[in-house]
Amino acid sequence: KRAQESSDYEQMERAAKFFAHQLRRHENSAAVIDYLKGRGLSGEIVKQFQIGYAPDAWDGLLSALAKDQRSKDQLVDLKLINRNEQGRYYDFFRDRVMFPIRDRRGRVVGFGGRILDGDGPKYLNSPETRIFHKGRELYGFYEARQANRELEQVVIVEGYMDVVALAQAGISYAVASLGTATTTDQLQMLFRATRRVVCCYDGDRAGRDAAWRALENALPLLNDGVELSFLFLPDGEDPDTLVRKIGADEFRKRLDKAQSFTDYFFAHLTDTIDVNSDSGKSLLLKQAKPLIERVGSEFYRDTLMERLARLLRREASQLAAQIKAPATQKA
Ligand code: CTP
Ligand code: MN
Ligand code: MN
Ligand code: MN
Ligand code: MN
Repeated sequence: KRAQESSDYEQMERAAKFFAHQLRRHENSAAVIDYLKGRGLSGEIVKQFQIGYAPDAWDGLLSALAKDQRSKDQLVDLKLINRNEQGRYYDFFRDRVMFPIRDRRGRVVGFGGRILDGDGPKYLNSPETRIFHKGRELYGFYEARQANRELEQVVIVEGYMDVVALAQAGISYAVASLGTATTTDQLQMLFRATRRVVCCYDGDRAGRDAAWRALENALPLLNDGVELSFLFLPDGEDPDTLVRKIGADEFRKRLDKAQSFTDYFFAHLTDTIDVNSDSGKSLLLKQAKPLIERVGSEFYRDTLMERLARLLRREASQLAAQIKAPATQKA
């Protein structure tokens, strides 16, 4: 009996297939396909990312996948269907463009759903489930590994559409950190697959905040040989709008010239500090010291310390005595 029951992953895969099928067969599909075309996506890229459509119904997925009480319960656990107080079941995603989120092994673990128009939050994501932990997954990572024999670099962006639009333009090595801040777990996953990571968040306040949080979360991972950079976009642009405006070649050039983490580190810290004054110098030391102490490699710690010493007009050796190595240093 047990062997015939579908695993969570099988159910998620069925759901992805259902949404993909609806994109071709549903009565609204012409409008949805127009929407995707309007955003510059080809049928090929839609297929590659298995983009789909959740129909405008309370019982679309429900009637397709919930065969018995057990599968209903399972779909509730997977947050694909909801159960209301009266005990009625209904689809979680309705009338949305669907992006399946795959784990590094290619198994569907969650979905993002974008509204087409009208009211409601622009994006709805699967809540955490027993197989979906947001801070540990990266949208597009599996697809990027499939598309590249070796990943020379990976670009981290904010959104599903940024990943897909970059892939459409031929930049098939972007991943998205699912709306939350990019976590240390996510960065670790990337640095196991590539040496160079470029953070490229939206050109707005939230995007700039996300960049600094990513830098903080990356500090323990900055080991010898890894490279972390930051590409800041013009105000109001995100990778999707920018690549469509300037093209892939120019976008790649900007990626190549992205700001190194050491440059960004001091640019950010001195942004609101006057390093010519003694109070500014002491404040800079106070803010930089705990961050530098979290850096993984001695080489990068030394690099930052030398830059800090120059800004403070001190000898690096004088500072070195004050700045410790991380407590738990990995080999
Ligand atoms: N996001 C989310 N929930 C929201 C808004 C955003 O989870 N209500 C996440 C999604 O992963 C989304 C990403 O943050 O892809 C980027 O958000 P945002 O920049 O606001 O999306 P837009 O670029 O405005 O979306 P689109 O290009 O589709 O219009
Ligand atoms: Mn979790
Ligand atoms: Mn934004
Ligand atoms: Mn966008
Ligand atoms: Mn955006």
